[in-house]
Amino acid sequence: MTAASRRTASTESSVGGGGPLVRVELIVNGAAVSAEVETRTLLVHFLREVLGLTGTHIGCDTSGCGACTVLLDGRPVKSCTVLAVQAQGGQVRTVEGLEANGTLSPVQEAFLEAHGLQCGFCTPGMMMTATALLAKHPHPTETEIREAIRGNLCRCTGYVNIVKAIQLADRKMHPSGPSESA
Ligand code: FES
Ligand code: FES
Repeated sequence: MTAASRRTASTESSVGGGGPLVRVELIVNGAAVSAEVETRTLLVHFLREVLGLTGTHIGCDTSGCGACTVLLDGRPVKSCTVLAVQAQGGQVRTVEGLEANGTLSPVQEAFLEAHGLQCGFCTPGMMMTATALLAKHPHPTETEIREAIRGNLCRCTGYVNIVKAIQLADRKMHPSGPSESA
């Protein structure tokens, strides 16, 4: 269990600013969480402000940058475009849930080894998108990788190394088969 999931395992909180409240129950990084929030609460705010999982970043709040990408039932979603209540009962995985027992995931290792980050602001979203891609599509071509991350913007424009990192992660996850660019 990760530090984040330990922290959220017993989460039972209530927040609100005067609007209608709803109880949201989710599995986040493998731990059951429950909180009462305003119906308008976005998933990204639920993760960051209610659960304290600030690894999920907010870059634009308008669905343009992908910094807030998390996995919802295994699919990458921009958590600034999803209401927390829309995720009701779902399985959410955030960047904090990538490592297990102090061991980085292959995608995390690859971003580190291939220098797939500069300032790091886009990195959590990039890694969640890459994780979803490689789980469902081993050995993607460079074109397929670039298509997968087209919704994730890197303001440092470090796309070359980000693509290399995802190719390296693919080789780590799927040692047999093609893994180089198209
Ligand atoms: S903060 Fe969600 S897409 Fe930019
Ligand atoms: S590494 Fe700086 S925004 Fe991508």
